[in-house]
Amino acid sequence: MRKSLAVTFALLLALACGVCAPTAFALPQDTHAAQDGPLQAKVPDATQPTRPDEPLVTARHGMVVSAQHLATQVGVDILKQGGNAVDAAVAVGYALAVVHPCCGNIGGGGFMTLHLANGSNLFLDFREKAPLAATPDMMRNAAGTVVKGRSTLTYLGVGVPGTVMGFDDALKKYGTLSRAQVLAPAIKLARDGFVLQPGDVRILDTSIDYFKQHPNVAATFLDHGQPWQAGQVLKQPQLAHTLQLIADEGTRAFYAGPIAAAVVKASQANHGLLTLQDFKSYTVQWEKPIECGYHGYTIYSAPPPSSGGTTICETLQIIDPYPFAKWGFHSAQSTHYFIEAERRAFADRNTYLGDPAFVRNPVARLLSAEHAAKLRAGIQPDKATPSSEVQGSLGPYQATNTTHYSVVDAKGNAVAVTYTVNSYFGIKQIAGDTGFFLNNEMDDFTSKPGVPNQFGLVQGNANQIEPGKRPLSSMSPTIVMHDGKLAMVTGSPGGSTIISTTMESILNVVEYGMSVKQAIDAPRIHMQWYPDEIFAEPGAFTPSVQAALEAMGYKIHPVRQMGDIAAIVVNSANGELESVNDPRYPAGAAAGY
Ligand code: GLY
Repeated sequence: MRKSLAVTFALLLALACGVCAPTAFALPQDTHAAQDGPLQAKVPDATQPTRPDEPLVTARHGMVVSAQHLATQVGVDILKQGGNAVDAAVAVGYALAVVHPCCGNIGGGGFMTLHLANGSNLFLDFREKAPLAATPDMMRNAAGTVVKGRSTLTYLGVGVPGTVMGFDDALKKYGTLSRAQVLAPAIKLARDGFVLQPGDVRILDTSIDYFKQHPNVAATFLDHGQPWQAGQVLKQPQLAHTLQLIADEGTRAFYAGPIAAAVVKASQANHGLLTLQDFKSYTVQWEKPIECGYHGYTIYSAPPPSSGGTTICETLQIIDPYPFAKWGFHSAQSTHYFIEAERRAFADRNTYLGDPAFVRNPVARLLSAEHAAKLRAGIQPDKATPSSEVQGSLGPYQATNTTHYSVVDAKGNAVAVTYTVNSYFGIKQIAGDTGFFLNNEMDDFTSKPGVPNQFGLVQGNANQIEPGKRPLSSMSPTIVMHDGKLAMVTGSPGGSTIISTTMESILNVVEYGMSVKQAIDAPRIHMQWYPDEIFAEPGAFTPSVQAALEAMGYKIHPVRQMGDIAAIVVNSANGELESVNDPRYPAGAAAGY
C-alpha cells in the first residue's frame, strides 16, 4: 500500500496535481487523470524545467503578487485609486475567478490572514461546509469501499461555497470601497474578455477532455469544441452576469437568490445533496491566527480548519534549536532534521486536526515547548525514522487547485489570501448558466480512515465527513513580523505541499538570508508522514547530499515542481517592498508602485 500511495502521490504532485504545480512545462493532466482510466497521466520526467528568469520588483507604496498578471494589475489599480489592501485583495480575488478559473473562484472557499496598520492580526475562515445531508460514509459503496472519483468529479464532492460571503464580510469590516467598485474590474474582464497567454492556455489544456463532457462548460472553455490558443480572447458572459448579480444584490444573490437556486437545481439533477437550506445557513468565521516565534520573527498563519499554521509552527518549534543557517540550505544535516520534524508534525496533523466546530483540536499541546522537546528527542542524529514508527504523538485519537496571493498597501495593511476549488476547475462542472466552476472540497475530508485522498494524505476520524462541517485544509496564508513590523507576506497552492512550500519560503528568508527572488527560485522539498519519502524538485540536493541522505535511509522521490509562492518581503534596510513572480507559474505577476 505504501508503494502505490507513493506512486499515486508522485503522479499527482509531479504532473497532475491541479492544486500543486500548474506548469508551463509539463503539460500536466489534472489530478484525476491518474485515477480515472481513460485519461491516463504520463509519467513525468524530473529534469530541471527551463524557467523564465523573472525580474525582482520593488515598490515604495503598495505591492500585489498573484498567479495571473491581469488580476495583479487589478489590485495595483485599486491601491492607486486609494483603496486599501483589503479592497485590493477582494478585487484581486474576484478578478482571479475570471482570469484564473482553475483556481481563483466564487465556487470554492478559502482563508484570509490580515495584519492591519493598527497592529491587529486577524484571520477569516470562508472554507466550504459539507451539505447538511452529508454522512461520514457517503464516498463509499455498499461494500464500504471508497468510490473513485465520487468526491472529486461529481456533485457529491461539492461543499457549500464560501468565497462570496468571505469577500463580502472582509470588505464590509475592513475595506473602504463599495462592492460594486471592487467587482467592476472582474465584471469587465468576464464581459469583454481577456487575451490568453501561453501560461493561461496550458492550465486550460489540463482539463480539455472534461470540458468536452459538459456542453455548458464547453460553450465557454472550448473554442467551437477545440482548445483555446494563446493570443485568442476568452469571454465569459454568463460569469459576468453572475458577478453583476453579486455586485447589485450582494450575498443575497449568491446564498438566497438565483445563484443558489441554479446550483441546487444542478446538484439535485446530478444526484448531489445541496439544498437551499445549505446556502441559507452558510456562515464565515473570524478567528485568531495561529501564532509562534522563530528566531526573533513572529509568524501568523491559518488555524483549524486549516492544518497549515499548526503544522508550520509545530515543525518550526521542533527545529528551533538547530543551527540551520550554519549547516546550510538543503545540506544533509538541515534536510535530515527538517524532514524528521515534518514527519512528526504531519503525523499529528493527520491524526488530530479537524473543524473546530466539531472536534477539539489539541493545538496548545501540539505547539507546546514540551511537545517539541519530546518529538526532538525521538530524532536519531544520523538515521531516518521510518514513518511506520511515528504515530500521532499525543496517543490515539478519541472519539490540490488552489491559488495564493499577497497584498501590501501604503498604510501598512497586509493581506494574504489562499482560496481554492481544490482540484483544477473543481468537479469540472458548472451549474446551469452560472458561469463558475464548483469545488470538490469534500475530497479534503477523510472518505475512509486510512485511505489516502487525492494528495496521498492518510487522515483520521477528526476529519470525517459530518453535516455542516468544514474539511481540514493545508492552506496557509501567512504573515511574518519582526520587531512589530511587517517582514513578509507569503503562501502557496499545492494541497499538502502548501505547508512545506510556505515554510521553506519563510526559512529561506529569515534563516538563510535569501532575497525574495532567491527564496522563490530555490528548489523545494516536502514530507507528509505517508508516503515515507522526501519529495524533491530538481536541484534540491547536490549529488553528495543526496548520497548522504540515502545512506541515512531516506528515499528521495524526484518531482518536476511544487506550488508557486506569491510572497512580498519588506527590505529591512530601506523599507521597500520586494516581490517577484514565481517562474513556476509564468502567467503570474508581481507589481507595485
Ligand atoms: N484543497 C486543498 C486544501 O485546502 O488543503
